[in-house]
Amino acid sequence: MTNRTDPYGRSIDYMRVSIIDRCNLRCRYCIPEGIEWLPPNEILTLEEIAGICRQAAAIGIRKIKITGGEPLIRKGCMDLIHMIKSIPDIEQVTLTTNGTLLASYAKRLHQEGLDAVNVSLDTLNREKYAKITGYDGLADALSGISEIEKYKIPLKINSVLQRGVNDEDWQELAQMAKDRNINVRFIEMMPIGHGKQFESISNEDILAKIQARYGPVEKVQKSLGNGPASYIHIPGFRGDIGFISAIHGKFCHACNRIRLTATGQLKPCLCYEDHISLKEAIRGGSPEEVQRLLLAAIDQKPAGHCFNQNQEMITEKQEMAQIGG
Ligand code: 5AD
Ligand code: SF4
Repeated sequence: MTNRTDPYGRSIDYMRVSIIDRCNLRCRYCIPEGIEWLPPNEILTLEEIAGICRQAAAIGIRKIKITGGEPLIRKGCMDLIHMIKSIPDIEQVTLTTNGTLLASYAKRLHQEGLDAVNVSLDTLNREKYAKITGYDGLADALSGISEIEKYKIPLKINSVLQRGVNDEDWQELAQMAKDRNINVRFIEMMPIGHGKQFESISNEDILAKIQARYGPVEKVQKSLGNGPASYIHIPGFRGDIGFISAIHGKFCHACNRIRLTATGQLKPCLCYEDHISLKEAIRGGSPEEVQRLLLAAIDQKPAGHCFNQNQEMITEKQEMAQIGG
């Protein structure tokens, strides 16, 4: 089956799947004081998640991103990746992680044929890392990154720059792409949950600073992932530098995704609380019912987010850890 098209003509072939709301970090723009964790029976089982992915494949989803909270703290995460990799129409399974638990899983991820890993890393300074994430875990995250490199799994670093905290850390982060096969991406802070309290550094500013330091850069035409990032190539660098500019470069016209939360809510868009529950259908309904609901979520996708407008229009009240980013 070809990809499904939403009412705005966008082809939807990508589903982000949050497999747990819990996280071992306390990022200041996400869950600084923690959140009340969901009781285990509210969360979909691994079989239910795989079952939804199977029906998603039947309606045209081709790429799955496993996310959280922190997906690696969910028991059975590797088995789930195995199950989803075994779905014939799923072409790509990737993982987003904070990297702190990654080192011990790298070998298994390689064995399972994981297609790519995104590691969230906002600084290379140990004290700042602890300040941002509430945990002295920089060394763990860096060793996770090295292990993934060892197994040659395609790797991206995702960095959120906050004014007054890590404004200039792009320099060291970008350097990671110099001699290593790593793409480094800068993500503008989105006004979701605690993210509302922090000022996003504009990706236009970072690009200007990169050009001031490295001279003219080439725009990379090919798309390097599933998402809305635009990439540049700095001459002499092995990896590329990407920009996910939700605020200053709205990319909703090219949106290709739906989101599944750990509780089985299908979200047509990150910005709004609107969702369709799949839990009842996957627990007691037919495969056709699950497919019908997946298609309904695609049909309900709005034209775009409203992050750059009146913040009162943002109806999503959950934290990023609960939605899966
Ligand atoms: N805006 C942008 N990115 C965010 N993340 C968490 N909260 C926000 C926000 N408000 C990022 C983390 C991580 C990914 C899971 O989402 O830094 O890279
Ligand atoms: Fe955990 Fe990611 Fe939220 Fe940080 S941003 S607390 S790593 S879910």
